[in-house]
Amino acid sequence: MKITRTFAMPNSETFTIPPIGDFVKRYLTTSTISVDPFARNKTWFTYTNDLNPDTSAQHHMDAETFLHMLRDNEVAVDIGIFDPPYSPRQISECYKSIGLTVGMEETQNGRLYKRVRDALDAIMKPGGVVLSFGWQSAGMGTGRRYEVVEIALVNHGGGHNDTICMAERKLPPVSDLFSPSPTESGKP
Ligand SMILES: C[S@@+](CC[C@H](N)C(=O)[O-])C[C@H]1O[C@@H](n2cnc3c(N)ncnc32)[C@H](O)[C@@H]1O
Repeated sequence: MKITRTFAMPNSETFTIPPIGDFVKRYLTTSTISVDPFARNKTWFTYTNDLNPDTSAQHHMDAETFLHMLRDNEVAVDIGIFDPPYSPRQISECYKSIGLTVGMEETQNGRLYKRVRDALDAIMKPGGVVLSFGWQSAGMGTGRRYEVVEIALVNHGGGHNDTICMAERKLPPVSDLFSPSPTESGKP
């Protein structure tokens, strides 16, 4: 696993931060179909969504609902982006800024991350890569059968939290590991 650490000034538009934008673009060059369910104004991806209707995303839905819509339309992607609000406070600010009421349940970032990661996993192709950004490195995780291929720490100086950037590759389903090879199954 590759681990790097660089310095860059903070910016709420994550991919505008040069080393983070470069990290995303490097993986995107290997992609044919990509999705960003928390896109804000970044239009680099095949399918984009952001809850805030004042952003330039193609759709303005809750991220989980958007990903379920793609799943129901049988979309499968090879790059998934996961750049949500990083804290309960950021979730609360986002919801309030667009006139939505927020209770305890909505502001729990762990709950948001779990439901959106599950929905993202459902449309990821085996061998595809999820790029996650935030203040912790839980990622998609081994429980969903992802292996970490790269971590890039971006330090913002002073009292700022680092942005932790992670690339994780989706492993083949367990069933594929036990299916017979062509020779074992008698096929030439
Ligand atoms: C960290 S920002 C994304 C920044 C973006 N990657 C960029 O480089 O500019 C998170 C975005 O998620 C959106 N958001 C917050 N909660 C959401 C939800 N439940 N569903 C979809 N989008 C949401 C916010 O409006 C915000 O634009």
